[in-house]
Amino acid sequence: MLNVMLSLPVFLSAAVGFKLCPSACLCYESSDLVDCRLRGLLQVPPGLPHGSWLLDLSDNRLTEVHTRSFKGLWSLKILLMSNNSIHSLQPQALSSLHFLEKLDLSFNRLRWLPPDFSQSLSSLLELQLGHNLLQHLDSSSLGGLESLRKLDLSHNRIEAMDAGAFRSLSRLRLLNLDGNRLNVLKDGLLSRQQSMTVLLLNHNNISQIENEALSPLRSLTLLGLRGNQLERIRFKTFLQLQTTSTHLHMALNPWTCDCDLQRVFGKIQHVRHLHVEDYQDMVCHRPAQQAGSPLASLDSQLCVAETASVLVITITVLLAVIGTLVKAEHNRKNKQSQSDAESQRLDR
Ligand SMILES: *[C@@H]1O[C@H](CO)[C@@H](O)[C@H](O)[C@H]1NC(C)=O
Ligand SMILES: *[C@@H]1O[C@H](CO)[C@@H](O)[C@H](O)[C@H]1NC(C)=O
Repeated sequence: MLNVMLSLPVFLSAAVGFKLCPSACLCYESSDLVDCRLRGLLQVPPGLPHGSWLLDLSDNRLTEVHTRSFKGLWSLKILLMSNNSIHSLQPQALSSLHFLEKLDLSFNRLRWLPPDFSQSLSSLLELQLGHNLLQHLDSSSLGGLESLRKLDLSHNRIEAMDAGAFRSLSRLRLLNLDGNRLNVLKDGLLSRQQSMTVLLLNHNNISQIENEALSPLRSLTLLGLRGNQLERIRFKTFLQLQTTSTHLHMALNPWTCDCDLQRVFGKIQHVRHLHVEDYQDMVCHRPAQQAGSPLASLDSQLCVAETASVLVITITVLLAVIGTLVKAEHNRKNKQSQSDAESQRLDR
């Protein structure tokens, strides 16, 4: 029964379209959809029907994508190769896919992207590269992705990215870099991302956000910075987010809870378009006496010491001034009475 059901579409497509289907795959809708999932394939099978627009090669054992593996597949719009063991894309591997709109290469073993990776992918809207072993993004490999809207690079090992890595991606809406090893968010990296609405940087090693790094992101609605190494932030850096409404996720960082930090968050909370969503979950790491306390629970306490010392200084200065004045007045009076006595003596 199962066999009949599985072979029915093959039979139908053969009957209707007279198009070939690789024996390992199932072809539907007169070969528009080609399903080669879970077949233990070691290579992209030859003889894929040229008219197909969806090809699913997920859950196989592909290790490489050879040059021109997809030759002649001009109509392909969706190519799924998730959960294989792909470690290399040979030159020109994707070069015939001019109309491809979605490419899924997640859950593979890619350590790097070849320089010509995106050369023919100018129609691509969505690229999934999550759960690979990528370490570095250079400025050429994503250079052809001028239509791209969604880019998932989460759960790789990315430590560094060339300043121009995202330069061509001016239509990008969503960038997911969760679960990498980034240390610094640099000025200029996102300078062309005016359309970006979601930027996910959770669970990296970010300890520094450079002053102008966020300023180009005029459409940002969500910025994820949970689980990084942030100890302090500057108010100015976030004030640069000239958006209508941006939600910030900032818990799970080793915050140094001092008056400075409290003031920064106090100010951020007064900026109407900025919303720290998880302020209640932000826990102090330093100084030792505050470690483990939620920042929210220390509200206004941290600046008390500072306010007190300002008060003490003010009072001391005031007292000194008053003292001087009193002394001066006293001296003046003394002199006055001396000279009065003098003139009385002379008068007599
Ligand atoms: C990945 O593919 C293997 C077969 O190669 C399959 O057994 C496994 O269930 C797949 N994993 C996921 C998460 O889909
Ligand atoms: C994380 O960043 C710190 C500097 O803040 C650096 O010393 C450390 O090596 C980084 N760790 C990784 C895994 O990159």
